[in-house]
Parts: sequence; C-alpha cells; structure tokens
Amino acid sequence: MCGIVGYIGKKQAAPILLDGLAKLEYRGYDSAGMAVYDGAKIQVQKAAGRLKVLDEQTHNGKAMPGTIGIGHTRWATHGAPSDTNAHPHYNQDETIAVVHNGIIENYLKLRKKLEKKGFEFRSETDTEAVAMLLGYYYKGDPLEAIGKVMHRVEGSYALGIIFADHPDEVYSVRKDSPLIVGQSEEGSFIASDVPAILKYTRDVYFIQNEEIAVLTENTITFYNIDGEEIPKEPKRIEWDINAAEKGGYEHFMLKEMNEQPKTVSDTLNPRIKDGRVVIEELGMSDEEIRNLRKIHIVACGSAYHAGITGKYVFEGLARIPVEVDLASEFRYRDPIIEENTLVIIISQSGETADSLAALREAKELGAQTLGIVNVVGSSIAREADRVMYTWAGPEIAVATTKAYSAQLIAEYLLAIKFASARGKLSDEACALLIKDLKAIPAQIQMLLANKEDIQRFANRYLAARDVFFIGRGIDHAISLEGSLKLKEISYIHSEAYAAGELKHGTISLIEEGTLVTAVITQENLYKKVISNVVEVRTRGAFVMAVTNEDNTEIEKTADYVVYIPKTNRYFTNSLAIIPLQLFSYYVSVGKGLDVDKPRNLAKSVTVE
Ligand code: M6R
Repeated sequence: MCGIVGYIGKKQAAPILLDGLAKLEYRGYDSAGMAVYDGAKIQVQKAAGRLKVLDEQTHNGKAMPGTIGIGHTRWATHGAPSDTNAHPHYNQDETIAVVHNGIIENYLKLRKKLEKKGFEFRSETDTEAVAMLLGYYYKGDPLEAIGKVMHRVEGSYALGIIFADHPDEVYSVRKDSPLIVGQSEEGSFIASDVPAILKYTRDVYFIQNEEIAVLTENTITFYNIDGEEIPKEPKRIEWDINAAEKGGYEHFMLKEMNEQPKTVSDTLNPRIKDGRVVIEELGMSDEEIRNLRKIHIVACGSAYHAGITGKYVFEGLARIPVEVDLASEFRYRDPIIEENTLVIIISQSGETADSLAALREAKELGAQTLGIVNVVGSSIAREADRVMYTWAGPEIAVATTKAYSAQLIAEYLLAIKFASARGKLSDEACALLIKDLKAIPAQIQMLLANKEDIQRFANRYLAARDVFFIGRGIDHAISLEGSLKLKEISYIHSEAYAAGELKHGTISLIEEGTLVTAVITQENLYKKVISNVVEVRTRGAFVMAVTNEDNTEIEKTADYVVYIPKTNRYFTNSLAIIPLQLFSYYVSVGKGLDVDKPRNLAKSVTVE
C-alpha cells in the first residue's frame, strides 16, 4: 500500500521525508515523490522505481530547500507506475500539492466535470482529481476547500496537502485509510504508518474518519468536516520498529487477514454504481458478452482455487460453461479454443511464469483474454487484452489471504455483469446479490473477531500428522484453499476431497483422532455432506464443521462448529475461508514456524 510522510519544522524537510519514506519501503511501492515549499513555490520531484532514484535525483534531499513538505511511495492502482503518475500531484496552477493513499471511486466523473471547466490533467491517477478539485474550491481558506472536497469525493483516502500561500501549515485528512500525526522538538509530522515517525516520537494522534489535522511547527489542531475544532489525546506507541511495520500485528499474514474487509470494499465499491455492476475497464459490450460461448479460467495455487469457485459462480449465475485449468497444465495440453472464448488468467503478482505462458498460449490460439491481477503494470496486466485489477494492495506474506479474497470479489462482479448482460438475472435478483456483496466486509470482520476461539482449537492440532478437508460444490473449492493454506505454512500433510469421493479410496486414511474439516455452506447439499461426516466420524475422525448459521442441526454430528453469517450461496467462500485461514495461521504460530516465509516457497513463482 502507498506510504505518506509529511513534515513541518525548523529542519530541511526533504531529507526527513526521504528517511520516513525509507521506513515505509517494506509496504511495497513502485514510485516515489516529494513536494517541498521552497519559499517561493512548491517544488515537486518524483520518479518511478526505487526510492534510491529519488534520493539520487535530489542529492539525498539536499537539493530541495524548504522546511515544509510531503512525501509519498506509490503502489500503482489507477495508471501504471511512472514518473507522471507518481505522487505528489499539483492542482492546475501548481499552488497546491497532494499525496494520497486509498481509492477515489468517483474520480472519472470528477475528472470529466473538471475537464469541461478547462482543467488539464497530467496523469491517469484518481488522486489528481482531488488536487484539481481542491484548486477549484480553494478561495484562500484551506479548511473550507478541504471540507468541500470531502463532500464531493467518494471512496477511501488519506491525504497530505500543502498550499503555497499557507507556507506554515501542513493539512491532512482521512476516510477509511489510516493516517497519524505526531510532534517532537524537530517539528510536526504526518504519516500513514507508525514506523515513518517512530524515531521522532512515540506519542501519536490517530486521525479518525473525516477528521482534518492542521500542523504547524509547534501545534496540531483537529477539525471535523464542518471546520469545528475537536479535542484529541495522543496515544503512546510501545511497539518496536519490527512490530510497527506490521501495524502492531505479529505477522504480515495476520495483518493481511485483518485487511480483508478493506480489500473487499476497495475491489467492490468502485464497481457498484447506482445499484448496478459497472466494470469500466472490461470494455466488453453486452452483445460481446452475450456471444461468449465458453470461459476458461487459468491460474496457479490459490488463484486456481479462486478460479474453481469462479466456475460455480459463472455457470450458476450467467449460465456460461467454464473450464478451470492449472496454468502449468493448460500451456502444454493443447487446449481447444473455439470462437468467442474468453480466457481469464488470475494472478496476484501478475508475474507467475506458468500463468504468463498460459496467457500467451491462449492469445496465440485466438482467445480473448482477461487478467484478474493485483499488481498494476505487471506482465500479465500488460499482455492480457483486458485487465481487471483487484485492489488488495501489496501482499507480503507468502501465503495469500487478502489477494485471494479480492480475486473472489472480482469474479462475483464479473459473473453478475455477465448474467445481467445475458438476460439471466432480473433487476430484483441483481439488487439482492449486490446487497449481499456489500454485507461481506462487515461479515468478514465479524469472523475475524472470533480468532481466539479458533486459536484455542488450532492449538490442539499442532502435532497432527494429516488433516482432511471435505466439501461439495463451492465447498470443495473452499476446502482446496483451506488445505493449501494449512500445508504451506504448518507443514502438516493435508488434502482436500470432494466429500462424495472419500469412499473411493481416501477414507482408508482416517484413523482415531484424524481431523476432518467439513465445509457445509450449500443448503441443497447439507444432507449429503452430513452423511459423509457421519462416515468419517464412525471411523474415528474428529470433525470441525464450517457451516451457515442456520444449520444448527450439524451440532448433532460434528465435534466443533464454526458458523458463518447468512449470504448468497455463491458468496459463501468469502466467509468460510476466514476461519480456515485463521486455523492455519494459528497452527503455524503454535508450532513456532516462520509464518510469513514458509520453507521452500517464494511469493512470486517466476520460473517454470
Ligand atoms: O501471484 P499468483 O497469484 O499468480 O501466484 C499463484 C500462486 O503461486 C499462489 O497463489 C500461491 O499458491 C500462494 N502462496 C498460496 O498461498
């Protein structure tokens, strides 16, 4: 995720900004920049690539005079990583500079309106719409202009802002993206994360949603959206730098699991407009969608599991036949690609060698291709005919959690869009699906809150030799992902089976005390899976069930039950996976393993 640092004080700002940005490098970024007021105007320096480039360009910041400034490391969302798209962004006459974390959902609408009024945009970013809008509203009172902008923008934001004609103040404001401020003898600071300012102060103020902070060298004042002053107490940060990088969480995986509500909202909300699914970047007419005869989903690992869920959702909602392939198989199996076939490649990194090769193979065979990708500007994003980004932000833990959750959301959105275009979904049914989608972030939050219970349960299985995951339909897809999560970070052998398949061989492995996790979220299959649960229990298995909150009957059969809140049957994966992620995480922690960097694994598999 992007990083923000801001400073006002007696010292030269740029070296302090560079130092703060360096402390945020661990978050991942693809460009960096700074804006400093030099006594006459706001100077901006920015560069694609590592911070080192900016450092060299500015001679460690020394070439940028001035004691007030804002800095940014960007993880591209809107617009590829480039010098131009890097932050800060100016308003039209370069008297205001802005850095931004988050996503402005209505930026295209704002941009069009401002362009009609003669504003000339220089970048492809959503952030520039904020800078221009600030310029549009600014009539000498920064607070008033910021308040007006807050009323107009939709989405999430943490902003650092400087105004050339208020050279003794740094402004900051946030909604749904974190921002903190602090003060020391050196001056006042803003930051998106604690590590950036930890060396100056441990007493920080957390800006709450829709609050504005105004910093001078010696003061910090907080205002609400109406410009009324509000009191605020600092909080003492006791974390060391290591803990601070993880936002106070013990591991990146835990941090990333906890980011899932936001990841889901960020991927979902910008694509819901006036109660409809709008995927602007898809660029497919309804007629093209109607003409589709087949979808192939191709991916590796967890992305492949997201693809298996996708098969059920696309086929169920849009009635398009779907084949799902492992990329390493697809590329060599001489697949049959007929006319009007869409090949969807799913990849967090956008660099997985087999997925990239499969994409190239699909294009050669004449398929239309769509990438569902997390890393903007990555190889798959560049080479696919179309790309739909999952806005999960950088994922650091090798075991994917939040990117996988975002991939599911992207597929649900596409399936709804395809179903509507193909006349398979009434407006009412579509509205109900969207209502359920919008409830998912809060439901994930609720499931995450149950972590202690899952941890206690996980602690009983630290010495397990084998764990089995069973389910039918979509629940089989969830089981596959649950099983992969467990084995990759706990080194416990685990397998996922379609529940009906057990008795064709695997059931011979069940012994007294073997843990079997049964995922049971598909109401039409309750009875069938319960029979399978009985089969394994009779052979001594201990059964953990993950099921819908109305399926209390299961308590008669399973030994331990985790309930998930009510949602549409196509979306249960987004909820049922949460306890399975937590379970794997706590088994790994309990065994004292390297959760974030499991042995033999790399985050991005760029070799065949
Ligand atoms: O970057 P990608 O999504 O293409 O990566 C695919 C797999 O390598 C990845 O999902 C892997 O299975 C994860 N480590 C699972 O947690």
